[in-house]
Amino acid sequence: MPLIRETIVTTLAADGTPHLAPLGLIAGDESGGRWIAAPFHPSTTLANLRAVPELVANYVDDVRIFAGCLTGRRDFPLLAADHVRPPRLAAALAHAELRVVAIEADEARPRFHCETVFEASHAPFRGFNRAQAAVIEAAILVSRRHLLPPATIAEEMRRLRVAVDKTAGPREAAAWAWLVAALASPVG
Ligand SMILES: Cc1cc2nc3c(=O)[nH]c(=O)nc-3n(C[C@H](O)[C@H](O)[C@H](O)COP(=O)(O)O)c2cc1C
Repeated sequence: MPLIRETIVTTLAADGTPHLAPLGLIAGDESGGRWIAAPFHPSTTLANLRAVPELVANYVDDVRIFAGCLTGRRDFPLLAADHVRPPRLAAALAHAELRVVAIEADEARPRFHCETVFEASHAPFRGFNRAQAAVIEAAILVSRRHLLPPATIAEEMRRLRVAVDKTAGPREAAAWAWLVAALASPVG
């Protein structure tokens, strides 16, 4: 299995509207310069990559951005990138600017092979946090809730909650609460 990094990807629509979405970028080589984005059909990220074949991979530790994108909160400050048209997140600890160099066609989940054209660091990485990992797992459950049995989601959330209760700071607690509220509402 290749390495996958859970990032917030920023893309741009043909009309210039930026879009944020959590996306697992698949390592395309060992140097770390090539990544594969595999957005499902249909999605805004997929439509945007077809229109503007560039993206920014934002490496963030503020997990409210993962939870926010899945619960209708996408109002996170953006800044211009250096070499590509999609913007980067102001909150990114680091970011990579990528250009699509090849597309592997697939009806359900095409693969956009990308090359890194620029990278920059903005703030220190301050170590792992179990609540952050739990929020990312819970965000994945929310994004797949139309596919998963409710009992499976409830059991996973019960297990993940332990790390949140023990290790969350205010950001992690807020992100967790947004996801719990989303799961309590009817499937959209
Ligand atoms: C950690 C994480 C990783 C994800 N990775 C992917 C992915 O690789 N491909 C994908 O299509 N959706 C992925 N998702 C789900 C999308 O973020 C979500 O469905 C989103 O709404 C994409 O649709 P959009 O581009 O229309 O916003 C991921 C979600 C999370 C929380």
